[in-house]
Amino acid sequence: MTKRVAVFISGGGSNMVKLLDSMTGDHPARACVVLSNNPRAGGLALAEDRGVPTEIVRHQPFDGDRTAFEHAILGALAPHAPDLICLAGFMRKLTADFVDLWRGRMLNIHPSLLPKYKGLHTHERVLAAGDTEHGCTVHEVTPRLDDGPILGQARVPVLPQDTAASLAARVLRQEHLLYPQVLRRFAGGDHTPLYLKT
Ligand code: GAR
Repeated sequence: MTKRVAVFISGGGSNMVKLLDSMTGDHPARACVVLSNNPRAGGLALAEDRGVPTEIVRHQPFDGDRTAFEHAILGALAPHAPDLICLAGFMRKLTADFVDLWRGRMLNIHPSLLPKYKGLHTHERVLAAGDTEHGCTVHEVTPRLDDGPILGQARVPVLPQDTAASLAARVLRQEHLLYPQVLRRFAGGDHTPLYLKT
């Protein structure tokens, strides 16, 4: 049966667009909703252009009460009946209760070769460490931040003239290739990791 996918974003949504555009033909999933905590997220209009319903659940009114925020998210999701959630640049931490509810059904993309560089500012940290290689990871979400079984990785070289911005752009191009391929496999029941050759 075709899986229904909710995509969560906070910003530009370039990964979300790649996911939405990939879910056609014999793909085992279809996007059912794009949800954002940020009403100004550029990705919302891109989802609407593609005929995918959008939901906005702002986090500010909940004033740090993450459980209440997530309760509102669940309410917004309910009419769309998703089977899977793809976090795609969704910049809010989720509680263990929420993650447990979606255990085995929620994916995230992170701009580093996990388990290296969990958290923020990954490109700056790679440059500061003098690494010669960087990349991105798609993983199942578990209660610990940027943890959980790895479903796919893509690597890029770090070049001597790189800035955080140039490195981020190189990694993002790989994210756009990796995430759709991993989602297709995962939705079809294949949870083995995919390592893209670059
Ligand atoms: C992507 O680089 C994604 O890996 C990162 O945010 C960016 C979103 O870009 N996610 C994280 O840092 C999560 N920890 P996009 O909105 O253009 O897809």
